Amino acid sequence: MQIQQQLSLKPYNSFGLDVLAENFAAFSNLNELEELLTVAEQQPLLILGGGSNILLTKPVDGLVLKNEINGIEKAGEDEEHIYLRVGAGENWHRFVLYCISHRYAGAENLSLIPGNVGAGPMQNIGAYGVELKDIFHSLEAWHIGDNKLVTFSKEDCAFGYRESVFKNKYRGQFIITSVTFKLNKKPVYHVEYGAITQELEKEGVTELSIAAISEAVIRIRRSKLPDPAVIGNAGSFFKNPEISIEQFEQLKKAFPAIVGYPVGTEHIKVAAGWLIEQAGWKGYRQGDAGCHEKQALVLVNYGNASGEQIYLLSEKIIHSVNDKFGISLQREVNIV
Ligand code: FAD
Ligand code: EPU
Repeated sequence: MQIQQQLSLKPYNSFGLDVLAENFAAFSNLNELEELLTVAEQQPLLILGGGSNILLTKPVDGLVLKNEINGIEKAGEDEEHIYLRVGAGENWHRFVLYCISHRYAGAENLSLIPGNVGAGPMQNIGAYGVELKDIFHSLEAWHIGDNKLVTFSKEDCAFGYRESVFKNKYRGQFIITSVTFKLNKKPVYHVEYGAITQELEKEGVTELSIAAISEAVIRIRRSKLPDPAVIGNAGSFFKNPEISIEQFEQLKKAFPAIVGYPVGTEHIKVAAGWLIEQAGWKGYRQGDAGCHEKQALVLVNYGNASGEQIYLLSEKIIHSVNDKFGISLQREVNIV
């Protein structure tokens, strides 16, 4: 366990931003974490997983703590479920593949989401009709001020669309150290997301399986989303906004092609990618900061953009979408 000074975070964030951390250390167990927190004293802290949902806009003061607590272990079993306790530093997709190879169902639609397990509950990661909350049992997190481990149930986490207590009420207070998942022995397939069915048909899959769904999701994602190893990005930069049915109907009169999906009985989730594209940003590039040419919801770094340039681009997009549609986009990515 070593604290490095003035370390470039370029390899540690999927935007590939070359930003310095004043101090940087990794921990792989609770003892190391406690020791680092003692040394850190009152320094500001940034907890880092895979760095795939952050935008670094300035040098990071204080201590960056990279969570490398690994391990996947069986924590229990009942007639219908397997419970897996997973270290927060485990790579998310590796965990999904582990489930598939052991025939534990539930995580397959969440294949290929970058980042680590510990950040999953932060924004209740989701894709292709499934969210982390659907397979979540509980988690353990270290309270930074009280120096103790606290267990959170699903209710405690208050999961919402790309939301949880850790992103809101308890922001910056807890370090998630492990997550326990509740997986199904008997699969319940989620193929209601149109693109999955089409992809399965295209591949001639006649018998559903969790492996086939995972492979379909992987193919769709690879065709749509830029690979951070090639073009820096953090996935969707904004959340899909939820508006009232009345507002949606009004907008539909002016913009008949607007894309939206009902959420509950009173709201419509509007495709932010569509709004941004219609506002003229898709494929836009200024210097090395841009709006991806295939997916307008994804802001990209073509090489040497700064976090500030990407942030300014996001400001411009928010203003122009607001001017055109009267909808205020919220960022999904965590701004540091
Ligand atoms: P980081 O970026 O390291 O951290 C994210 C936030 O969580 C930061 O605020 C950090 O301080 C905090 N944090 C991290 N670890 C901990 C911890 N152990 N305890 C407390 N706080 C912590 N997201 C989706 O939901 N669905 C998608 O389909 C999706 N697709 C993506 C596609 C691409 C190409 C990319 C680049 C990103 C995508 N994302 C998606 C976003 C991202 O993958 C997820 O948000 C992921 O969970 C981030 O994990 P991470 O370990 O990289 O988090
Ligand atoms: N669209 C456009 N133009 C674009 C992009 C999208 O018109 O440039 C429209 C299309 O009509 C498309 C619709 O938007 O049908 C939805 O697009 P897509 O299926 O690509 O999904 P998304 O809403 O852009 C969301 C999540 C993704 C997740 C996918 C699949 C959010 C903010 N994003 O994207 O999550 O992988 O659905 O479930 O909810 C992430 O959070 O980082 C992320 C990538």
